[in-house]
Amino acid sequence: MSTISVFASGTGSNFEALADAGLPIAMVVCDHADAPVVAKAQARSIATFIIDYRDYPTKAAAETAILAALPASDLIVLAGYMRIIGPTLLAAYPGQIINLHPALLPSFPGRTGIADAYAYGVKVTGVTVHVVDAGIDSGRILAQAPVRILPGESLAHLEARIHAVEHQLLPHTVAAILKEELAL
Ligand code: GAR
Repeated sequence: MSTISVFASGTGSNFEALADAGLPIAMVVCDHADAPVVAKAQARSIATFIIDYRDYPTKAAAETAILAALPASDLIVLAGYMRIIGPTLLAAYPGQIINLHPALLPSFPGRTGIADAYAYGVKVTGVTVHVVDAGIDSGRILAQAPVRILPGESLAHLEARIHAVEHQLLPHTVAAILKEELAL
């Protein structure tokens, strides 16, 4: 049986979409103890590991602590994990970490992809799932879905529509990877 671990920092709506799709989530790793995703995982009796990076002298030390807690996983899914993955985790899970990004990479990388695309005035933005490498939102693209920005649309409305697309694309992509229909 394949297992995945989900790393998330905030709301956890994409974690919920993965869980609702019946994907085998062994653990949720979160870097904020009070993030809503923690309670959402606990409500589903999924193990959680809270990592406070401030408790560790280096990112490598924090990632070593994560690895010590993490059950053996076939795939790590970053679903709103607002940190750059360092060499320690990348070496432990080579090519096995994927990230969800709320824009059509390579456009609008970083933490505010939806707002950046909106502010730029593009007519089409979207959602990307990609393999994580040492760069920022720079790894090989696995899946994308476009979202057309409507005339006069508010940022909040666009954000809601982007999230709805994420909730479809991410579980679909993870399921395809686990079924070996999509190669990492
Ligand atoms: C999602 O929109 C995800 O694409 C984004 O964080 C949100 C998390 O929402 N990730 C990034 O911006 C990464 N650069 P959620 O906590 O409700 O799943």
